[in-house]
Amino acid sequence: MRKLVAGNWKMNGLTADGVARARDLAARAKAAPLACEIALCPPATLLVPVGQAIVGSGFALGGQDCHAEPAGAHTGDISAPMLKDVGCTYVIVGHSERRHEYKESDAVVRAKAAAAVAAGLCAIVCVGETAAERASGRTEAIVVRQLQGSLPPKLGPAKLVVAYEPIWAIGSGRTPTAQDVASVHTRIREALRDLTTEAVAVRILYGGSVKAANARELTAVANVDGFLVGGGSLNTEEFWTIASAYG
Ligand code: PGA
Repeated sequence: MRKLVAGNWKMNGLTADGVARARDLAARAKAAPLACEIALCPPATLLVPVGQAIVGSGFALGGQDCHAEPAGAHTGDISAPMLKDVGCTYVIVGHSERRHEYKESDAVVRAKAAAAVAAGLCAIVCVGETAAERASGRTEAIVVRQLQGSLPPKLGPAKLVVAYEPIWAIGSGRTPTAQDVASVHTRIREALRDLTTEAVAVRILYGGSVKAANARELTAVANVDGFLVGGGSLNTEEFWTIASAYG
């Protein structure tokens, strides 16, 4: 399967720097294409200019969230068909920042993922445990429960990517050991057998303080099929080095 490295810019970037970063990455890809697929998920305001900047690069464009409804009276929200309309292939749903800041439940995440798929997008569904949940030995149970609640039934690899992002690792500079990542990803793969079609081909990304310094080690971990990169995606050199870890 082709690995996926997705950059989640979160709420960062004005037009000039976002477009410059996208152009720089696109130029590097044109000069020396990478083995992995790259997706850029800029803030909604930058989807169009970033989409233009990456034309011909082979990069995919992704949104950071979508509403569960295709249209309607939802001030401030963006729908999956709107993301598709401006050239997105992916949308992140259920990121822990949304689960936490907007109290998004598994059921809400599932509805958003279903809306994404209905609009022709591939949903990147995020799951992950808190520090307290890990400390109490409940990581795998929590992650499996989130998957059961958040995944629409029986999606396949073209419509679904799972991102395992331990909440305590996001933006903290701390990461689980390679062994811990392997255990959770292997457990996720097992759970996907019941929840998806072609579970072996559904990509499972790791996210949470992925950096140039740890990317290569993580590429070797069983069932890690790419990365969801936050802070490290805001620096061109850092992000390119991370993606280059896949050769
Ligand atoms: P981070 O964020 O790479 O800054 O830890 C990852 C994410 O939240 O997707």
